[in-house]
Amino acid sequence: MALPALTTAEEVAQLCDIYDWLFEVRAGRESGDHLDLTSHDEDNAVHTLPQILNPSKYAPQLADTLLRANAEAVARQLLGPETTFRFDHAIRKPPRSGAATPWHQDEAYNDGGMHYEEVSIWIPLQEATIENGCMWFVPGSHKQDVLPHHPIGHDPKVVGLEVDQPERAMAQGVPCPLPAGGATIHHCRTLHYTGPNLSDGPRRAYILGYGMPPVRRTVPRDFYWLRQQQTAWQARVARVAQKEQR
Ligand code: NI
Repeated sequence: MALPALTTAEEVAQLCDIYDWLFEVRAGRESGDHLDLTSHDEDNAVHTLPQILNPSKYAPQLADTLLRANAEAVARQLLGPETTFRFDHAIRKPPRSGAATPWHQDEAYNDGGMHYEEVSIWIPLQEATIENGCMWFVPGSHKQDVLPHHPIGHDPKVVGLEVDQPERAMAQGVPCPLPAGGATIHHCRTLHYTGPNLSDGPRRAYILGYGMPPVRRTVPRDFYWLRQQQTAWQARVARVAQKEQR
C-alpha cells in the first residue's frame, strides 16, 4: 500500500535535519543500536548500509510529530484498536555507495515461536526513486508463511538476512517510487527489497513499526538461519548488557 503524504513538507525538512545529525554523531553506536546491515560492522570499517535502531531514543523529538500521529492512526485502521507502536528505525544509503537491501520478510528476524501481526510504515525523507533505492514488493506475498532465509552472502558475520531464491522474488517484484514524506506500508510477511543508491544524494528512509501483541504459536517454527549468525553486533549488544548488569 502506498500513501502520497503522511506529513507536511515542513516536517520532512525538520526530520531530515535530525536524521542527518543522528548519523553524523553515530548515535547508538555504544549501546548497540547503530550497525551496518551488510558488512562485518567493525568499528573502523566503511559502512555501506548504516542504520540506527530506535532513533527516537536518541532524538526524543522524533516521537512528537504529525508523522508519528498519522502513522499510528493508519496502523490502527489496518490492524485493529489494540495496535501499539513497536519500534522506529533509520536506514541511510550513502550517495553512490549504498548496497542493496536484499529480498526478505521482516518476520524472519523475529522469534519463530510467536505469531505476529505487524506493519512497517516506510517513509522516505527525500523523493524515493528506482535510482536511489525505493521499496520493491512482491504483491500478495504476506499471505504465505515465513520462507527460508540465510545471512547475506551466506556470511554468518553479517547481520542482514536474505530470502533463499531471491531471483524468484525479483521476477515478481514491483517498484514503489514515492514523494518525500509519503509512505509505503507492508506486513511483516511481505517480501520486500530496496536497490542500491545510484544517485548523488543520500537516501534516507525512516521506518515506523506497529503491531498487535504477539501470540505464542502452538506449533513453533524453526528460524534456523538466526542460529547461523555470529556477528560483531551481537557481541557488542552482549557486552552492553553485561556492563549494565555490573
Ligand atoms: Ni525489511
